[in-house]
Amino acid sequence: MSRTYRIAVLAGDGIGPEVMTESLRVLDAVEAKFGFSTTRSTQLVGGAAIDATGHPLPKETISACEQSDAILFGSVGGPKWESLPPDIQPERGALLPLRKHFGLFANLRPGVCLPSLTHASPVKNELIPHGFDVLCVRELTGGVYFGTPKGREERDGEPVAFDTMIYRKSEIQRILRVAFAAAMGRGKRLVSVDKANVLATSVLWRETAIEIAREFPEVTLSHLYVDNAAMQLVRRPDSFDVLVTENLFGDILSDEMAMISGSLGMLPSASLGARKEGTDLYFGMYEPSGGSAPDIAGQGIANPIAQVLSAAMMLRYSLGEPAAADAIDAAVARTIDDGFRTGDIATGAPTETRVGTAAMADAILARL
Ligand code: IPM
Ligand code: MG
Repeated sequence: MSRTYRIAVLAGDGIGPEVMTESLRVLDAVEAKFGFSTTRSTQLVGGAAIDATGHPLPKETISACEQSDAILFGSVGGPKWESLPPDIQPERGALLPLRKHFGLFANLRPGVCLPSLTHASPVKNELIPHGFDVLCVRELTGGVYFGTPKGREERDGEPVAFDTMIYRKSEIQRILRVAFAAAMGRGKRLVSVDKANVLATSVLWRETAIEIAREFPEVTLSHLYVDNAAMQLVRRPDSFDVLVTENLFGDILSDEMAMISGSLGMLPSASLGARKEGTDLYFGMYEPSGGSAPDIAGQGIANPIAQVLSAAMMLRYSLGEPAAADAIDAAVARTIDDGFRTGDIATGAPTETRVGTAAMADAILARL
């Protein structure tokens, strides 16, 4: 029986469309090689959608996503839309509603610094002689981002504003299970990050982490306060395997981790929702960790690897095509080993071949 999957393709703004084009070429190639196919529904999102329809997340886009097995997402936002009211800006008006609508509670953000790319990391190279490979698991649909009440009012003659940080135990349990399962497939070490010396939500978080640990006796669980975790990440990033934390802490730490990896243009991410019944697969949205990079958009110089690896994560977690995902990961690693470099990861060494967006994808395709 032929394997066919439906995906929604939301390229968005900035470098989104150009890197998306390359990731779809790579997807075409693995489809031919591994004997499956995808039906792609291309939809507007972000600033592109605002320009065309007045709204960053049109209804047609949502329904196309609902009819798909996964969403392949580029990036949204840019200076053109920054002065719009916050609720219809690309980030808040498209990204957050997509996460909430599809219940994408588990955000997997790998932070990888390959041994051959340590020069691109701002961390002193003697601290990371072999690079590092950390997986950040961030809770994505709870906490202070979405808690209510949230708002602004007048009190005693002056404006006050408030947000609510709230977690149900079941929300903590499900993200911890994802993190423990991820640790089982890697180095079996999990660091849970909280602020249990101050926050009630963190006390519940830590208790729950200790409880869930009993289901995963092979995984070593430890705990760090978030401020200490921020320090340890820059001091000894290679000591981490998997890190799990709540929404806001994860927002901050995942950016720190991406920055120290020195290759924002190479980091994919997955936002996973419900399990597909009777399978190990999730509905998910896959996107590069970096942003829309409006400063280099349209020049054909952006690194397509983050988008290509996002497609690989989609094959792994939503479509159940792990061999194709492995093939993409391996081809990307070989492309880097063979010295192909976009501007973001180049040093100017004579062994390097400087390439643009399309030529980087060509080099990956040649190694598939
Ligand atoms: C991210 C971004 C978003 C977040 C913004 C754009 C709303 O920073 O995906 O990390 O805060 O989650
Ligand atoms: Mg962020």
